[in-house]
Amino acid sequence: MCGIVAYSGKKESVINSLVTGLKRLEYRGYDSAGIAAISSSGIYDKKTVGKVTNLERAVLEDQPVGLNGIGIAHTRWATHGEPTVANAHPHASADGRIWVVHNGIIENYLEIKKNLQKKGIKFTSQTDTEVVAKLIGDLYKGDLRSAVLETVAQLKGAFALCIISKDEPERLIGVKYASPLLVGIGKDELIIASDASAIIERTKKVVYLEDGELVDINKSDYEVVSFQDEAIDKSVEKIDWDVDAASKQGYEHYLLKEIMEQPEAIENSLRGRILLDEADVRFGGLMDVSARLKDINRVVLLGVGTSYYSAKLGELYFNALTSIPATAAMSPEYRYTKNNIDKNTWLIAVSQSGETADTIAAIEEAKRHGALVTGLVNVVGSSISRMTDAGVYNHTGPEISVASTKAFTSQSLLLLMHAILLGRQQGLDFSASKKLIRAVVDLPKSIGEVLKSRDLIEKVASSIRKDNDLFYLGRQYNYPIALEGALKIKELAYIHAEGLSGGELKHGFIALIEPGFTTIAIATDDVVKDKMIANIAEVKARKGRVVAIANEVIKQADATVVVPNIGSDMLQPLVNNIALQLIAYYVAKERKLDIDQPRNLAKSVTVE
Ligand code: AGP
Ligand code: GLU
Repeated sequence: MCGIVAYSGKKESVINSLVTGLKRLEYRGYDSAGIAAISSSGIYDKKTVGKVTNLERAVLEDQPVGLNGIGIAHTRWATHGEPTVANAHPHASADGRIWVVHNGIIENYLEIKKNLQKKGIKFTSQTDTEVVAKLIGDLYKGDLRSAVLETVAQLKGAFALCIISKDEPERLIGVKYASPLLVGIGKDELIIASDASAIIERTKKVVYLEDGELVDINKSDYEVVSFQDEAIDKSVEKIDWDVDAASKQGYEHYLLKEIMEQPEAIENSLRGRILLDEADVRFGGLMDVSARLKDINRVVLLGVGTSYYSAKLGELYFNALTSIPATAAMSPEYRYTKNNIDKNTWLIAVSQSGETADTIAAIEEAKRHGALVTGLVNVVGSSISRMTDAGVYNHTGPEISVASTKAFTSQSLLLLMHAILLGRQQGLDFSASKKLIRAVVDLPKSIGEVLKSRDLIEKVASSIRKDNDLFYLGRQYNYPIALEGALKIKELAYIHAEGLSGGELKHGFIALIEPGFTTIAIATDDVVKDKMIANIAEVKARKGRVVAIANEVIKQADATVVVPNIGSDMLQPLVNNIALQLIAYYVAKERKLDIDQPRNLAKSVTVE
């Protein structure tokens, strides 16, 4: 996920509009920023690492002259290649005449790159995006729209693009496929952007592009066509948000936005990694260590906080799908235990930020013992991604809210896929694997179903807003979810909560149950459901209150949040967890707390 702005209009406004627009989009990523604008001498370009202010300063120092009012700009959230100037957008064609900014992932970029390299075209970055610029350049025969249409016909994946050419100085082209893009219609100016926050200060009139559409701008005229070059009649809509609401896409908090965008974020995590026909998965980031993966006899999944809970789910997945013993390890404790790790151990370090000091220290320890260490990290180029032997990125886009939601869902799902990868090497049954992978592919849709019932969940949340203590109960795959659910409500709503295995309840904890004490019990249809129903009865017998998360109304419970049954015990917990995320959010909201920045917490914990 990154931010795109492109401008066509008054020449004196081009730089200012692009830079201001980028600043509004920084919540989408801030690894690097870049700009390319048409000038009388060709193309003016500038790229810097880090936040947009660095770009702003560099452009001010340069004082570009002769600009004609057309330009493109980008703030990056890296997916392919570290956050360096060479990888920063815009990227250029081989002859430097055509410039491109991109949001998304080109799944087949290696294939395209190989073909272009065979023709002698040289590449200067590690990004997937660069192939788009080089391919348009290669296909360009004097008409930018034709070259772009020919190019998009070859692309697989997700791509919102803006393109300019020095040979057609009045023209600006935008393309949308599976990444967002809209066109702001201003007075004598048109602005293309990833979302409304980048245009709202200049205009409230907007045309939303759909997948498979291209906008062709010629100074102040625009035309929208399909990828087959057929004209499309688009209506102009009016935005009634302010700037702040726009960067949260109309949601009141980043947390709610991040919960709600999970279907899309998870699609991005899966992009290019599913081989359904082969009942297998593929991680480009693990290719380099594939030989070592064959000699693995132990798996350790490392993390802390929410990432540890996804590691606990991962432990269950590996133990179910492979014959190699797996254990989850909490990173701050790791160095103080006798680990017995060696070169045949595969340690997977799970960290949203990639900067967690405890996890870094544990990785160093594992490396000293010669283990194969790979990362599962959301932030490209972060410390953990650099210090590990190889790794997989989440590709869920920046998580701004301090409490982790979409990253957890992605981490857990990708750990399941790591387990499938190893399992298939060891003869995991083709049809069992295929069934599981199908459920993986369907997960975004199932998550979307839970999100639809958020008003009902809000009502349930309201019933616990005054509680001071809560139990979260789950068994087997739902036990880590009980732990995560409890952590979420602690972080967001400042309610003391304990996540327990249903089986633990009788071993002490039940002493706290008294009339009115609320227990949230996860009792979806699986092999441990009957046992969970028995736990609910135990709580009710002591006049406690029960909120159930289940596939149908549980009559013994005081309230039930009904979630869809997705037919996979391994993935159902990730659907159940969405309900717990929403409960924590709505309780915190009713309590009028600082949801995106809860007290005493930080997004990356860089001290031990
Ligand atoms: C998540 O909601 C918490 N803020 C916290 O537990 C977090 O997961 C933990 O600090 C680990 O962070 P990491 O994933 O960036 O390593
Ligand atoms: N894949 C591109 C890159 O790594 C664009 C990033 C994005 O949109 O997230 O540069």
